[in-house]
Amino acid sequence: MERRRWVTLLIIMCLFAGSTGRGLEIKNKVPSLLYNHTLATILVEYASAVYMSDLTQLFTWTCSRCDGLTTGFEVLELIVDVENCLQAFVGVADDLDAIVIAFRGTQETSIQNWIEDLFWKQLDFDYPGCTDGKVHHGFFNAYNNTIVRSGILDGVSRAKEMYGDLKIMVTGHSMGGAMAAFCGLDLALIYGGNNVEVMTFGQPRIGNAAFASYYSEVVPNTFRVTHEHDLVPHLPPYYQHLPHKTYHHFPREVWLYNLGFGFLIYEVEKICDGSGEDPDCSRSVSGNSISDHLSYFGVEMGCDTSSKCRIVMAPSLSSYGKVDDKGNFALSRSPPSKSILKTKTQSQMID
Ligand SMILES: *[C@@H]1O[C@H](CO)[C@@H](O)[C@H](O)[C@H]1NC(C)=O
Ligand SMILES: *[C@@H]1O[C@H](CO)[C@@H](O)[C@H](O)[C@H]1NC(C)=O
Repeated sequence: MERRRWVTLLIIMCLFAGSTGRGLEIKNKVPSLLYNHTLATILVEYASAVYMSDLTQLFTWTCSRCDGLTTGFEVLELIVDVENCLQAFVGVADDLDAIVIAFRGTQETSIQNWIEDLFWKQLDFDYPGCTDGKVHHGFFNAYNNTIVRSGILDGVSRAKEMYGDLKIMVTGHSMGGAMAAFCGLDLALIYGGNNVEVMTFGQPRIGNAAFASYYSEVVPNTFRVTHEHDLVPHLPPYYQHLPHKTYHHFPREVWLYNLGFGFLIYEVEKICDGSGEDPDCSRSVSGNSISDHLSYFGVEMGCDTSSKCRIVMAPSLSSYGKVDDKGNFALSRSPPSKSILKTKTQSQMID
């Protein structure tokens, strides 16, 4: 049902693009690979699952969001930064022939507070290796200067040791999308831009125009999915008349919106131009919706509990972990220990 609806709207979208003469406009020097709708509907499920607070279920891929299109996924590394409330995993998806990395968005009790805070983020950090490239130090540090980066790199190198040269797909929603972008950039510099794909959902702006252009050269295969009036992609604000002061999105945006013909409503996926700030995509509407932020392709994004940084973990899991003095940890394993772990956690629950 769902799938058929999407097909219909894709057709409508093509008709529309043809009739207005406004389709793909490629301004990038680097040709970007084609947007793949099926892949987007799969990756959004990973970006949703990484929010789950029960770490045992997440590690064994048995959580309530760990099914559907992600069935069979194998987590190799689960990173939890308790101090900064960050969560991410690295694993292998057999069906995608890829390493999948997902970052959780903010787990604030009040998403409003987090969003208000986004208005005031300054471009205050020179991105290393990128002339004039500026980002916000908080976004960058959340990836680079916490236990997250080392955990991710460790998970990726183990996955490559075990499975050979897999593609790397990085995803995340909201603040997790910002971290996914920094991670994708880092991995593209290490493993080559052709081996890394990034797809984010409802991601805020993370840097200035010089950074955006550097980013899109290093990680050309990037899609930034936005949804209707989701307000987070509108933040921190874009000031058209302050080119040296303003944040600027990197390409390529794909905007999901509803198109009504009388009583018929179609969901359209619009592939935007290569500027990163296509005025005919999400920027053509006001960003005023939190509920559009919390749902992508009909998948629920955000936390499963309202409490801040809640962690549920079976004690047996700690045998997979390295815990630092602040209580942050990364759980890692090499297959085929999955069955052993399952037995352990089950007996733990029976006890
Ligand atoms: C889109 O992605 C899916 C899932 O990875 C893959 O099976 C399919 O072949 C891809 N389609 C194209 C046209 O690349
Ligand atoms: C990023 O993190 C690495 C260690 O993981 C560190 O060596 C490097 O200096 C950091 N970069 C910046 C700009 O902070």
